[in-house]
This record gives sequence, C-alpha cells and structure tokens, in this order.
Amino acid sequence: MLPVNPPARLLMGPGPIDADPRVLRALSTPLVGQYDPWMTSTMNDTQTLYRQVFGTANVATALVDGTSRAGIEAVLVSLLAPGDRVLVPVFGRFGHLLAEIAGRAGAEVHTIETAWGQVFPTSAIEDAILATRPKVLAVVQGDTSTTMNQPLDELGAICERHGVLLYTDATASIGGNPLEVDAWGIDAVSVGLQKCLGGPSGSAPVTLSPRATAVLDGRRSVEAGIREPGDEVLDEPIRSNYLDLAMILDYWGPRRLNHHTEAASMLYAAHECARILLEEGRDAVVARHELAGRAMLTGVQELGLQVFGDVAHKMHNVVAVRIPDVVDGDAVRGAMLADHGIEIGTSFGPLRGRVWRIGTMGYNARKDAVVTTLSALEQVLRRGGFPVPQGGGVDAALDAYAAAAAAAPASSAVVA
Ligand SMILES: Cc1ncc(COP(=O)(O)O)c(C=O)c1O
Repeated sequence: MLPVNPPARLLMGPGPIDADPRVLRALSTPLVGQYDPWMTSTMNDTQTLYRQVFGTANVATALVDGTSRAGIEAVLVSLLAPGDRVLVPVFGRFGHLLAEIAGRAGAEVHTIETAWGQVFPTSAIEDAILATRPKVLAVVQGDTSTTMNQPLDELGAICERHGVLLYTDATASIGGNPLEVDAWGIDAVSVGLQKCLGGPSGSAPVTLSPRATAVLDGRRSVEAGIREPGDEVLDEPIRSNYLDLAMILDYWGPRRLNHHTEAASMLYAAHECARILLEEGRDAVVARHELAGRAMLTGVQELGLQVFGDVAHKMHNVVAVRIPDVVDGDAVRGAMLADHGIEIGTSFGPLRGRVWRIGTMGYNARKDAVVTTLSALEQVLRRGGFPVPQGGGVDAALDAYAAAAAAAPASSAVVA
C-alpha cells in the first residue's frame, strides 16, 4: 500500500475548502497529554479565541470533537429533554437535519417550511413561536443546500420576550457573514472549521449563553467512575454520553472532569483558524468574503448563467448556479475536476443536478481562486457546446475587484 498522496485540487464547492497552510502546519505539530499544563492553558486560550470569533463573553465556549453535525447534536440533545418542544424553521436540507436530530433526542418537533431559495420573514417565525410555545427555536443561519442566509439579528429579542432559547447552526455562514452572538441575543451556536474558517472538518466550536448553561446545569449527571460525593446523578440524564455538553463543559472548565481524550491535532487546527481570522479582523474577513462572493456572482452572470434563489439573502460565500437545460451538469463538474483540478458541487434533494454550488470560502476567498474558477468554467462550458462570452466571467470578476480597490482606502485589506 502506498502512502496517502492527494492530488492537487482547488476546492471551490460548498465546503470543505483548501485548509489554510498555517492550519496544515498546526495539524502536524506534536501531541501533548490533555492534562499537561501547556495543553490545559492552550485549551483556555482556544476558548478565549472563540469568544472573540463568536462575539461573545460566554464562559461556556469550547470545542466539541467531531464534525459540525456533532456540534449540532451536542447542543440539541443537551438542551432538549424528551418531550420538550422545539421549533425548527426549515428552508433547506440543514433545517431538516436540525429537526431530525431534535426528534431523535425525543423532543416534540414543530417545523415551518418555506420554499428552497427563500428565507423566512422574522414575523413568520414569531407567529410560529406564539403558536407552538417552544422551549428552543433551532434555526440554521446559512443553509448551504440553498445558499440562503436567514436574518437572525431580531430573533434573539423575540425569543427572550417569549421565554424561548435561540440556537443557530452557523457552520456555513460564520466568518463569511456577520454573526454577533451577544449583540443579537443568541443562546447557543455551533459551527465547524471547514468553510469560512479555513480548516478541515473534525472540530465543532460551540458557545452557550448563561440562560442555556442554566439548562445544562439542571441536566448535569456525572458518570460513575469519576463521580465524587455530592456530584449530581439523574435518573434521566442527557441522552448522549459523548455529546453531553454539561460533561464536556466540566472537562473544559476548572474542574477538568475527565470525559473524552482531547483530539489535540484538531484543537491545534481550531486554534490556528481562530488566530488567522482574528489577525485579519472579523469585519475584514466578512468584507473579503463579500467581495469574493460578489465577484463570483457577477462572473457567472456574465457567462450567461442564471443564479438560483433570493440573491438579496444569499450567503456571501457560496452561489448556486442554475444548470442550463442543454448542459450535462455532472459532465461539467467532472471536466472541472479532471481537466482543471477544480471541485465545484451540486446540491441535495430538489436541487440535486439542478444547480452547481460554487464556494468562495476561507483561504479560497481570494481573487486568483475566483478568476481561475471562472476561467475554467468558461472553457469547460464552451468545450461542451454552451455559448459563453469570451472572457466575460473573468472580466466581470476583475472589474468587481478593481472597483473595490478604487473605492477602498490604500491600507485596506479588502482588495486581494
Ligand atoms: C449548514 C450546515 N450545517 C451542518 C453541516 C454538517 O457539517 P459536517 O459535515 O461537518 O458534520 C453542514 C455541512 O455542509 C452545513 O453546511
């Protein structure tokens, strides 16, 4: 058997994207035991970094070891006891996922749905809260399946008014779009590294407000073998041991109660992802994604392609392009990969084979990556017999970058 030797790829799909080389270097640094003082202090530093990434003062900020789905499941199974009501507004595949996970946790799940390609007016969500009186409102921020970005900024105040906890899955949107955990009054957030944070999948940063932490405190049940006199034991503990956030937070907190063996390499990766983002600055990172996304959007439009969904509510970092009827979408994706080493995606369910999803995320939210992708797409479409204006996509993208450079102060980082 030969050693793993991956081909050179430019990952321009809906995620994962190429990890930042700094993150790859962090991943290859030596392992250290999880109770080594260096490690516990690095865990504390990682919590500090993610508080800044999330825009929160939440003490309960930590990493769940696992992909983003593990973060979602940890939040939902820990906040929701069997029979608790949860409301899930569904506007794509990942809303269905939240409902599915909440259902498996034994919650009474209520959903409202809107067409794929749309988001909900805030008033529709408030109406549904009044109709269902849930304990938790669980809503995806950016649903990668449709590229839509649900506005969340008013939901925290609404939830607080009605005594509801607000949880959001911001896996696809964090970094590329504004997310203000404390200012927007969000009680729980889970994310992953593999989109705009520029890392691999396998670590799920989470944060919980004091209101959400109070729910966990009421559900804490310390497992036998590490339990000490006076520790809580419940007849009905949180229904997952691995994803029990009360126990995970006791492991990250001052008690350092043993839980799992920390995935040290992923901790290093998460730490570096946060450092990279904060060095550039949260607003600058969002602005870079906005520009790359706008350049890609105008680029595909100038190639004569139609964009799917409500563009005004699109995430900055991914665009869904309608596959023209006369074009074989899978053949185009195949040629992009085989001839240009570029990966783009399709979508799921009703959009499978109907759209290509092209991402401009994290390390790949760069001018050269946008231009290379548009140039390859133009060539593949022309070779496949679809008429495209020569250089149109690349020119439009370069024009977007030139206009941003002309408008920005000389010191701005938004131009490259
Ligand atoms: C919005 C959203 N939530 C959750 C997930 C699941 O993430 P993971 O595959 O890391 O478990 C994804 C993955 O694409 C996503 O886009």
